[in-house]
Amino acid sequence: MNRNAAALNNLGSYMLLMGSIVPRPITLISTVGSDGVPNLAPFSLTTAVSSDPPMLAFTSTRLPIPPDDKQDTLRNIEDTGEFVYNLVLAEYDQKMVDTSTTWPASVNEFARCGFTPGPSSRVGVPRVSESPVSFECVLHRIIECGGGESRLVIGQVVAVHIAEAFIVDGLLDLSRVARTGRMAGSEYVHTDAPFTVADAGIVRDRRYINDYLFEA
Ligand SMILES: Cc1cc2nc3c(=O)[nH]c(=O)nc-3n(C[C@H](O)[C@H](O)[C@H](O)COP(=O)(O)O)c2cc1C
Repeated sequence: MNRNAAALNNLGSYMLLMGSIVPRPITLISTVGSDGVPNLAPFSLTTAVSSDPPMLAFTSTRLPIPPDDKQDTLRNIEDTGEFVYNLVLAEYDQKMVDTSTTWPASVNEFARCGFTPGPSSRVGVPRVSESPVSFECVLHRIIECGGGESRLVIGQVVAVHIAEAFIVDGLLDLSRVARTGRMAGSEYVHTDAPFTVADAGIVRDRRYINDYLFEA
């Protein structure tokens, strides 16, 4: 089948993209409102953008049905220029989804959904203590797409927190822990069946893995 993308309506193209770009890694983005209230929300349109300097991105969208308001996450980042990008473990699936509820901006979603705020070092936004890795970010740029319906939020990482349990022989190792990916609709997948595929040309020698993060 071949369709001209221009023939798809907004909902149709949303469903097509969300149903085919799977699985998507899930990140809990923490922010703080201009009134000081911490906010937490999951995002699956998320990726790493660059490594020098380290940058991460996620997309804040407004769903076609029902047309929702600007997300608190986006408004907070526009106001403060800061956010924390927290990885989330599979054991917190339900709590993670709970944070996607459209609570009023006055609700502290850490407290409401059972996550523990932890101190950040370079930004005024709490991180998620339950996360194996949290990246403190300052806003690099917001790129409007789709007539402003979607905004790609790019942050520069200014500090990293890694839970000691996930540092093995001086390196970050998330291979033994289940995390969750978003599939279509309300379906999810766990990363509990990793495997290796032999490849050529990619240097995997540990001597070449820069462990600068963990130098004393
Ligand atoms: C697993 C999961 C992933 C999500 N990913 C995104 C996403 O990538 N972009 C987006 O705009 N909304 C996404 N959402 C919806 C937001 O989390 C939801 O709109 C939330 O209420 C935003 O919260 P806020 O208003 O506190 O920022 C996702 C929801 C779930 C449950």
